[in-house]
Amino acid sequence: MHIAVIGSGYVGLVAAACFAELGHTVVCVDNDEQKLEALQRGETPIHEVYLPELLQRHRGLRLSYSGSVAEAVRASSVIFIAVGTPPLESGDADLSYVEAVAREIAFSLNGYKVIVEKSTVPVYTSEWLKRVIRLTCPENEEFDVVSNPEFLREGTAVTDFLYPDRIVIGADSERSREVLEQVYLPLLSGSYYEQAHRIPEPGELADRVKVIYTSAKSAELIKHASNAFLAMKISFINAVANVCEAVEADVEEVRRGMGSDARIGSAFLRAGIGYGGSCFPKDVAAFRSVAEQARCSFRLLDEVIAINEEQRSRFIAKVREALWTLKGKRVGVLGLAFKGGTDDVRESPAIAIVKSLLAQQCAIQAYDPAAMKGARNILGDSIAYAGDAYEAAQGADALLILTDWEEFAALDLERLKQVLRYPIIIDGRNLYSLETMQSSGLMYVSMGRPVIQHPSSATRKLKSGELAK
Ligand SMILES: NC(=O)c1ccc[n+]([C@@H]2O[C@H](COP(=O)([O-])OP(=O)(O)OC[C@H]3O[C@@H](n4cnc5c(N)ncnc54)[C@H](O)[C@@H]3O)[C@@H](O)[C@H]2O)c1
Repeated sequence: MHIAVIGSGYVGLVAAACFAELGHTVVCVDNDEQKLEALQRGETPIHEVYLPELLQRHRGLRLSYSGSVAEAVRASSVIFIAVGTPPLESGDADLSYVEAVAREIAFSLNGYKVIVEKSTVPVYTSEWLKRVIRLTCPENEEFDVVSNPEFLREGTAVTDFLYPDRIVIGADSERSREVLEQVYLPLLSGSYYEQAHRIPEPGELADRVKVIYTSAKSAELIKHASNAFLAMKISFINAVANVCEAVEADVEEVRRGMGSDARIGSAFLRAGIGYGGSCFPKDVAAFRSVAEQARCSFRLLDEVIAINEEQRSRFIAKVREALWTLKGKRVGVLGLAFKGGTDDVRESPAIAIVKSLLAQQCAIQAYDPAAMKGARNILGDSIAYAGDAYEAAQGADALLILTDWEEFAALDLERLKQVLRYPIIIDGRNLYSLETMQSSGLMYVSMGRPVIQHPSSATRKLKSGELAK
């Protein structure tokens, strides 16, 4: 099939590369000239496992890039809209990019096309799209609008796309539904999974990819409701973590107990500094607006957002408690991306915490395996950028872990102890077990778990006679 993907960001570029991998001829469109030039030179503008090799494999063969929506539309029978839907001040999704693309598509229709919402959009967007396109396109042009929300996660985007839990097809006509089935056929029939050169499966292969057929409106709601639910799980466990701290229990034990209930599941039940990224914060806010506009009370979402915001202040309070005063302290920071495995710093809780520490006159030296460039665009020269984790810790009064990169869970603790000015780690992601930290000789503060004091604090107390009393 001939497919156009409009918007070559985290979703569009991955979708385009994967559609080419499935055997389609794909043109990937963007209006960011620098990004297009980089793609045309063979570069991969985002950090995503397997993406460079897919782009390399298909570039110039089944995958091309273009700055022209019109050309791409005319050459394709299916058009995926994957532009951004950032939040407005009000919390509503900004749909102006989607609308602008819809108008351009409408001008260029030449025969029946299926226009697919890949961007995350509020319910009713498909109706608006139909209306805008109908009013703009030449009379008698045939088209359908389908909602096909994307559930990939940054960091594992390619394997999420090629090995999905489910594919949701929100089509209001039989004809458009069949077109979408053709797009995903190699996944639905399983033929892709028999190919020798397939991208390797991330775990055990399910028998079949589940496909869920719905109306366009339900599909739009599935995406918003799913993200709001996952955000709720994160806020829920964070609230539980706060109770654990108050009663000296261990949230990791509580999580294990809760998560092993199949009805609950352990995913997204990690206590930490809260969710961030370009999806959860804006999608929860947008879903709250949708509910409000539909005159439905959904105050649960207010609480999800409030807990998430409080979590950052609670973390800063932990840093203050460990360091006594913040002004003039040198703080090492591990992680700037909103989560491990990506270079994306949009709405990153790590960046918010760094900004807050800067405002309190701390000096920051930070390291992230992939997000240094993105962080520099936001933080400029207000912090020092380290070459690795140990350089970030060098001479610091404490080391903060803010992103759950795998490599931060396997640090040489002895070496850290030597380079830190004070042997203090404050872990906003609970990457270490208490047992490991107990024997490390470091003070270890984490989320929802007892603090492990540095051995010298006991000695100090002993010396001052405090413990003897
Ligand atoms: N990032 C994720 O993990 C993720 C996951 C699922 C769904 N989504 C949703 O997918 C959508 C895209 O997200 P993203 O993270 O890929 O955004 P992004 O900002 O990385 O990419 C959007 C791209 O669209 C391009 N663009 C904007 N207007 C354009 C126009 N008129 N013509 C051509 N290109 C245009 C931009 O230049 C940019 O490259 C959003 O609605 C998001 O909520 C994102």
